[in-house]
Amino acid sequence: MNILIINGPNLNILGKREPDIYGHQSFEDFFKELRNKFPTHKIDYYQTNHEGSIIDKLQEADNQYDAVILNPAAYTHTSIAIADCIKAIDIPVVEIHISDITKREAYRQHSFISEVAVYTIMGKGLNGYALAIEWLLKNRANL
Ligand code: DQA
Repeated sequence: MNILIINGPNLNILGKREPDIYGHQSFEDFFKELRNKFPTHKIDYYQTNHEGSIIDKLQEADNQYDAVILNPAAYTHTSIAIADCIKAIDIPVVEIHISDITKREAYRQHSFISEVAVYTIMGKGLNGYALAIEWLLKNRANL
């Protein structure tokens, strides 16, 4: 499969950022391991701190990739614009969160993205990205 991972704001400083919640590893280090785990699949990675850039990338990815794995970070809880974009494109989007947002602050507990994502994984740390790929590979015939 051709899969694009999109990470939203502050996920470029994983490793440094609140390691008790998000762990000690940078995404770049983890991404090398992730690619090695799925050598027969094409996995690309894009990170931005800007809401509109997430939307631009989702629109670009449409029909260029088979699926997107998206961690919209704080935009999860605010962005109707990203949700609208996911509804408008043809490829499936899996939502991922490193932490379990349902067990955190009240303002993190609602996701505008869960309503439009094909599947949501949360609370599994960085391994959640591998689980998202495994889920896509298993379910690709039905997406
Ligand atoms: C996050 C959870 C969000 O609430 C937070 O704003 C993030 C990361 C996660 O991966 O657990 O930046 O999406």
